[in-house]
Amino acid sequence: MRTHRAGDVRPVQVGSSVELCGWVASRRDHGGVVFLDLRDTAGIVQVVVDPDAVAGADVHGVRAEYCLRVTGTVRERPEGTVNPDLATGAVEVAAATIEVLNPSEPPPIPIGDRVDADEMLRLRHRYLDLRGERLQRNLRLRATVNSAIRTAMEAQGFVEVETPMLVASTPEGARDFVVPSRLSPGEFYALPQSPQLFKQLLMVGGLDRYYQIARCLRDEDLRADRQFEFMQLDAEMSFADGDDVRAVISDAVKAAAERVTGEPVGEIPVLTYAEAMGRYGSDKPDLRFGLELVDLNHVFGATEFRAFQADSVKGIRWPGQAELGRGRLDALIDRAKQLGAAGLVWVKVRDGATLESPTVKFMSEAEQVGLADATGAEAGDLLLIVAGARRMVDAVLGTIRNDLGRPPVHEGGLHFCWVVDFPLFEDLADDGSPIPAHHPFTAPHPDDVGLLDSARGDELLTVRSQAYDLVCNGWELGSGSVRIHDGALQSRIFELIGIDAETAQARFGFLLDAFRYGAPPHAGFAFGIDRLVGILAGEENIREVIAFPKTQSGADPLTGAPTPVDDRHLRELGIQVRPKK
Ligand code: AMO
Repeated sequence: MRTHRAGDVRPVQVGSSVELCGWVASRRDHGGVVFLDLRDTAGIVQVVVDPDAVAGADVHGVRAEYCLRVTGTVRERPEGTVNPDLATGAVEVAAATIEVLNPSEPPPIPIGDRVDADEMLRLRHRYLDLRGERLQRNLRLRATVNSAIRTAMEAQGFVEVETPMLVASTPEGARDFVVPSRLSPGEFYALPQSPQLFKQLLMVGGLDRYYQIARCLRDEDLRADRQFEFMQLDAEMSFADGDDVRAVISDAVKAAAERVTGEPVGEIPVLTYAEAMGRYGSDKPDLRFGLELVDLNHVFGATEFRAFQADSVKGIRWPGQAELGRGRLDALIDRAKQLGAAGLVWVKVRDGATLESPTVKFMSEAEQVGLADATGAEAGDLLLIVAGARRMVDAVLGTIRNDLGRPPVHEGGLHFCWVVDFPLFEDLADDGSPIPAHHPFTAPHPDDVGLLDSARGDELLTVRSQAYDLVCNGWELGSGSVRIHDGALQSRIFELIGIDAETAQARFGFLLDAFRYGAPPHAGFAFGIDRLVGILAGEENIREVIAFPKTQSGADPLTGAPTPVDDRHLRELGIQVRPKK
C-alpha cells in the first residue's frame, strides 16, 4: 500500500512521487492550504494539501488519528520553514490524493512523547499510547536487547529450551499465582516464579549450556521495578563456576547495551558483598557517584563521646555542603532516625580544617584531626556520621548516600558491577532457623562450608555463599549462584533452614531424586530483561518498556483483568468463592 514509511522521507526523494500510510498526528488549517502531520512507525512527515488540487477525500473532514493513505510529491520546505527537530524536517509532501482508510473517534488521550494523561486512561487505551514515539522507541529497543542477548548466548554455545508454565511451586520466595486443575478438582498448578528447578534438571539431563528468555510470574506488591509478569534471561551451565557464569552473562549484557548505545561497556568490576556494604551501604551499589562511606572506627575506638561508643562509626563526606541550613540538617537527622539510627551527627568543615558542630566539644583534639584525615575533609564540606550496630549503620548511610547523590536513571552512563560472596542466609526466622538469602540450592562458599556445622545463631549469618548479583546504576539486574549438586550437603541445608526431610522430599523430591543420578556441578544466573531495558531506555518505571503492563494495584484497565469466573466454570473446577466481606 505504500512506497515509503512517512518518517523515512528525506531530501534525496525531492521530486519523486511517494505513497504513504499512517495516522494524522495533527492538522492545521491555514486558510486554504491544510497541513497534516502524518505519523507512522518511522516518524512524522508534513503533508501539504491544497483542497482544490487534491483528489479523494475532503481534507476538511479529516481529524486527528484518522488512518490515511496519501500519494504526493516530495519537495523541499520553503526557506524559513525547515523544522530541525524532525528527521523529515527539510522536506514536505505535496498531496495529490488522500484516501481515508479508516476514520477515528476523537482520541481520549493525547498521543505524543511524554504525555501527561491520567495513567488509568492511558493503560485503558494502551493501543493509542503505543502509537506515541516513546513506547514505539522503547519496544523497539526491547526487541534489540532480546535479539542481542540471543545472538550472544548462541555464540557461546547455549541452547534455548522452553520450560513449562504449569508447574509445582518454585522456591523464589514470592507468592505463587495458582491455576486450578479441572481434571483434579481441588488441586492447583503454580505459574513459574522462575525456571529454576527445570534448568537444574536440564543440567542433570546433559544439556550442558541452557538459556531461555523466560516469562516469570510472581504475586508480589508492584513497584517501579516490579511487575507480576516479567522476563528473565535465564541461564545455567554445567562444569562451570561463578567466574564462568559471570563471563558469559557479562558478554550478553554488554552486547545488549552496546547494540543499544553504540558505546563499548568496559570491564565490569567485581566487588564482594562485604566491600559493597562497607563502601556503599548497599548490596546494589550505584557507582555513578562518590559519597562513599568512610570507616571511622579507628578514629573513635577509645572515644569519650557516648554516641560514638558503638560497634560501628561511619561517615559520609558531602563536598561543598557546609552551608546547609538548619532545616535541611534536621531533615537529615529525622531521615536517619526513621531508617533506624539513634541519630545522625553533622559536622561542618571550616577553613584550616576546623570543625563546627554542636557535638565537636565531645570529641578530643586527636579525634577531630583523625575525622578530618579519614574523610579527606576540605573547607566547605559537610560530614554526616552515624554510629551503632554495623548492619544498621551501613544500611542507614547507604540510603542517605542514595538520597543525596543518586542521579535519574538516564544520567551518568551505565555503571555495571558484580557483587559476589553474598551471605548464605539473610536473617534468622522467629524460630531461630536461618533464612536463605538467595534460594536453598545455592552452594556455600568453599571456605565457609565447615561453619555450617560449627556456627550457631547469629554466627550463621556470617557464612558466605557462592551467590552473585549483577547491578547497574543501583538497580539489581540479576542474581545467580553455584548450585549444590551434592545430596548430603543439600539435605544439611534443608535441615538448617527448618525444612525436614519429609517436607523436602514432598516439595523438591523430583530434584533431589535427579541429583542421585550423577548430577554435574553446575551454576547459573538470571537477569531481569524489563529492568535492563528500563535502564537503557532511561525509564524509571518498567511499565514504560512493557507493551501491556498492569497498574500498581495489579489490574489491567484494558482487558478488565482480573475478572470473576462464571458459576458453571467454578463448579467444574470444584471451587466455591466466598462472598467479599
Ligand atoms: P531472582 O529472584 O533474583 O533470581 O530474579 C532475577 C531477576 O529477575 C528480575 N525480577 C523482576 N523483574 C520485574 N518484576 C519482578 N517482579 C521481578 N522479580 C525479579 C530482577 C531479578 O534480579 N532463579 C533465580 C536466578 C538463578 O539463581 O539463576 C532468580 O529468579 O531483575
